[in-house]
Amino acid sequence: MIEIDVFTLFPEAFAWFASQRHVTNALAGGLRLGYVNYRDHTPLSAGQVDDTPFGGGAGMVLRVDVVEAALRARYGRDPVELGDARRVIALTPSGRVLDEALVQELAAEPALTLLSGRYEGFDERVLEHFATDRVSIGRYVLAGGELAAMVLCDAVIRKQPGALGHEDSAVEESFSAALEGGPEYPHYTRPAEFRGWSVPEVLLSGHHARIREWRLDQSRSRRQPGPLP
Ligand code: 6GU
Repeated sequence: MIEIDVFTLFPEAFAWFASQRHVTNALAGGLRLGYVNYRDHTPLSAGQVDDTPFGGGAGMVLRVDVVEAALRARYGRDPVELGDARRVIALTPSGRVLDEALVQELAAEPALTLLSGRYEGFDERVLEHFATDRVSIGRYVLAGGELAAMVLCDAVIRKQPGALGHEDSAVEESFSAALEGGPEYPHYTRPAEFRGWSVPEVLLSGHHARIREWRLDQSRSRRQPGPLP
């Protein structure tokens, strides 16, 4: 089971996330999910963690010495070498955009370290010397990396064994091999008819082969044009 450490200035922001069913299931199954607050390890006075950018400009930058101290405190080694032992992922809007393939890759790792930044981001030396990966959750800018870290954690944790309760849930879902990498088919539940909107007849037929065929067909017709992921 995977171990994930999240470095953040706002560990309390993860409380709701960590109470979600798939997370508590995974925790019961051995997931380790830890938080490190940069501020608890800053070598600077008055809990300072950020500073103004050299060259001027708006906003504040998370300091490299602060990130180093937090990593060192957690792992007891020079963070420059940490990448040999685990993926160290900096959440930054200019990183590789998270998709299902990257989620699968990360979900198979034994251990991840996520670095969230606030303000204008990290001192570039954090990215250069401590991070093994830079990941973004899309081409838009958030005020901080916490939501991005939660998105990544959510996607990775639901892939862990036992997280979803029902092991089939993750097999035939959007972007899965079972759907040829395509989006999910439509779902319906009771009532079978509502305001004259009826459920496709095939789903009520009990004919499993035909249902499977209809679902794959629906998934195929929902694909965006262009190459498959
Ligand atoms: Cl990882 N961070 C921030 N601040 N904004 C983002 C992002 C990350 N991914 C998309 N937008």
